[in-house]
Amino acid sequence: MWTKGQLTTYREQGFLVQRGLIPPDQIERLRSAADEMMSEQDDNPPEVHVVREKSGPVRSVFCMHRNVQPFRELCRSEPIAGPVKQIFGSDAYIFHSKLNYKESFEGTVWLWHQDYGYWRYDGVDDRLASALVMLGPNTRNNGSIALVKGSHRWGVLDHYSDEITTSYKQWCITPEALREHITDESMIIPIEGDAGDVCFFDCRIVHGSNHNFSPAQRYSLIYAFAAIDNVPSGVENPRPDWVVARQFEPVTAELPESATSLGAPA
Ligand code: SIN
Ligand code: MN
Repeated sequence: MWTKGQLTTYREQGFLVQRGLIPPDQIERLRSAADEMMSEQDDNPPEVHVVREKSGPVRSVFCMHRNVQPFRELCRSEPIAGPVKQIFGSDAYIFHSKLNYKESFEGTVWLWHQDYGYWRYDGVDDRLASALVMLGPNTRNNGSIALVKGSHRWGVLDHYSDEITTSYKQWCITPEALREHITDESMIIPIEGDAGDVCFFDCRIVHGSNHNFSPAQRYSLIYAFAAIDNVPSGVENPRPDWVVARQFEPVTAELPESATSLGAPA
């Protein structure tokens, strides 16, 4: 669980990085389960959804948290679910999960966006947060995520829908809004790290990541959590369950109530 200081840092910056949070043997199990799902050799569980780059390699594998054991276990474990319970001051369920893979030299960009730039259309409020778990080295060359510190306080910036740049429809911040808000390169914080490092971030933080220019593959696993009562409603054509969950099983239920005792969210 986080200290009061860590929770304060998360609220001020809009993110918090914890190094070496997940031990190597657990990373090993996650990596081999991920490779198995990506190979699509044996039958993957039906809810697992694979997205490929235009050029062929896997880009994302969604929804492994339900029935792929190492992924199911990790999001319920104290190092991940504890801070999530503290962030919301309540239980949480998985809104979605995805392994974002970037093949060496081929993995492509995630353009600047706020997650709530997508999720506001899914019938939920902004009590959502993510945990990015590195399953291998994440470097500037292989396309590590970059965040803009404090940008969770900017409100939701203008986004547009991009269906051209990559195989995945992205909601992206307009160049005008980017120029207005990101006025100096020093505002961009690259989150480089190694297997086992974890970055927790607010759904309104501005973030993105580059093309993989390196010989090293990039493995980033992202769990998006929602406060337990923040369930989608009122959307006419909702996105599929692999990206907007319709199952609301609390993943934080086993944690002590003291996890919520550090103070209610701002
Ligand atoms: C995302 O923002 O959902 C993906 C970012 C990344 O995988 O680099
Ligand atoms: Mn995102």
